Amino acid sequence: MKKRPFVAGNWKMNMTVPMTRAWFEEWLRLSPGPEDAEMVVCPPYTSLWEAARRSTGTGIWLGAQNLYWEEAGAFTGEVSGPMLADAGCRYVIIGHSERRQYFGETEATVQKRIAAAIRAGLRPIVCVGETLPQREAGQTLEVIQAQLEGGLSGFTGETIGGFIFAYEPVWAIGTGRTATPEQAQEVHQAVRGRLAQKIGKPAAGCVIILYGGSVKPSNAYDLFRKPDIDGFLVGGASLEAAPFAEIVKESIRAYYKEVN
Ligand code: PGA
Repeated sequence: MKKRPFVAGNWKMNMTVPMTRAWFEEWLRLSPGPEDAEMVVCPPYTSLWEAARRSTGTGIWLGAQNLYWEEAGAFTGEVSGPMLADAGCRYVIIGHSERRQYFGETEATVQKRIAAAIRAGLRPIVCVGETLPQREAGQTLEVIQAQLEGGLSGFTGETIGGFIFAYEPVWAIGTGRTATPEQAQEVHQAVRGRLAQKIGKPAAGCVIILYGGSVKPSNAYDLFRKPDIDGFLVGGASLEAAPFAEIVKESIRAYYKEVN
């Protein structure tokens, strides 16, 4: 059963406070309506407060791009789950490939961050994805399974049911090269299959699995038509409100095509 679209924007290390303000002003002019989709933006920490103020009543929820697993204390430069919840976040991205690649994120740290998110009442958006050499060597599903295992071990079915997963092939992030709907569906289906083994088929069917990697208004419709693609994690195309709103609208259009 197709779920209503979930579309999250990952602003990465972009967007000052004035840019955040302008984004929400533009969004208010374009808003596709909160009832048809779950919409989230994940600003950098410095813009969270402004985004929280501006997002009230817009239908957009807030997420962070990372968190540290301790709650408070002498951890210079880090931000904790309770701080993010306090700043208005409902979601947090964990294990993004850029964090794995540049900041030494491992399965062990991903697991600690997921646990910390849950303790703080935040829903984790757990990212998995293969590199181009891994895909070319035919290792995609193996790599994804290993990343999933890392993220899932130690959590019970009920908790896992609240996770959101994002499949983001590394070769498609910021490159303009999107996975085809078939390539994405294959991995999404495998992720859901693994979840079904772990938490049962009905619960796995309810888990939100996002696709990320060069999502734009022009490819969102075809991707969303695939049965196991429940929405998107959008980087570059979320930095302006107009293309982000278009992606939401295209997802809603595909959703109604599927359910009607
Ligand atoms: P992109 O980034 O849409 O710019 O490819 C997606 C992501 O990294 O979450």
